Amino acid sequence: MPIFTSPFDPATETALVTGAGNGIGRAIALALVGEGVRTVFADIKPETVEAATKSAANPDLAIPWTGDLAQRSECDRLLADSRAALGLITHFVHSAAPPRREADHALAVTDDTWEQMRSVNLDAGFHLGREISRALIAAKAPGSMLYLTSLHAQTPRNLPHYSTSKAALAMLVKEFAKTLGRYKIRVNALVPGAIAAGGFVADPALARHIPLGRLGNADDLAPLALAVLSNRISGYVTGASIVIDGGLALTNWFDPPQLDD
Ligand SMILES: NC(=O)c1ccc[n+]([C@@H]2O[C@H](COP(=O)([O-])OP(=O)(O)OC[C@H]3O[C@@H](n4cnc5c(N)ncnc54)[C@H](O)[C@@H]3O)[C@@H](O)[C@H]2O)c1
Repeated sequence: MPIFTSPFDPATETALVTGAGNGIGRAIALALVGEGVRTVFADIKPETVEAATKSAANPDLAIPWTGDLAQRSECDRLLADSRAALGLITHFVHSAAPPRREADHALAVTDDTWEQMRSVNLDAGFHLGREISRALIAAKAPGSMLYLTSLHAQTPRNLPHYSTSKAALAMLVKEFAKTLGRYKIRVNALVPGAIAAGGFVADPALARHIPLGRLGNADDLAPLALAVLSNRISGYVTGASIVIDGGLALTNWFDPPQLDD
């Protein structure tokens, strides 16, 4: 009997993916649809969400949603719209993150940029995950959630708003996993390395620090994301941070930022 034939049950399982208009979120959302899972693609950019849903293997299963997840009211609208479209949300992927700009080092980053990063990465991740879990608990249904964190949850990135929000998110995954395990809700982190997926403008020279010899791409992440999300494949995995980086974490390649003085 093969192990991996049907990782999801499309009759009872559904998904909400944030950041699904681009990069890693898009690849995971498309892969979920490829497994027959009805999936809400949420992002701030209407044109990329439309393009992503239209490119799905079965566009009928791909539901576009556009809004700014830095705002609590928009997170609540996303929850309401997703429930209207899907019924119970059983799987949640939080991949949305504002752009990372090299100029935003510790002495330059503005209050607004700091706030935006924290709001999308951490606040939306907490609020959406908690509300989705409350509904699962009320329905006595199992579920799983996957948060995109970063190697820079543990090592500096010269972008303090980004690294601190990812460090907080990594702890949120552990807090959720510990509290929600009794309800059969699993919560894990996927920790990408250097993925040329849109959000990270990678210097190709970085490849020399990667034991597998190349930068990653979004499609490298989707199969592992689905495996961790699947209750059939990873039913005994929770609170884990699963690194997918071609071995990049074996080195630390960043110098301190260039300062003007
Ligand atoms: N690419 C990498 O190398 C890498 C490495 C480590 C971690 N990650 C993490 O993986 C995730 C995906 O990365 P990516 O490279 O695919 O990023 P990306 O920038 O390509 O995609 C992020 C998506 O989030 C959306 N978004 C931004 N602000 C939003 C908001 N306010 N509301 C709703 N949507 C919003 C963007 O429009 C975009 O489509 C991010 O959380 C990122 O931090 C990426």
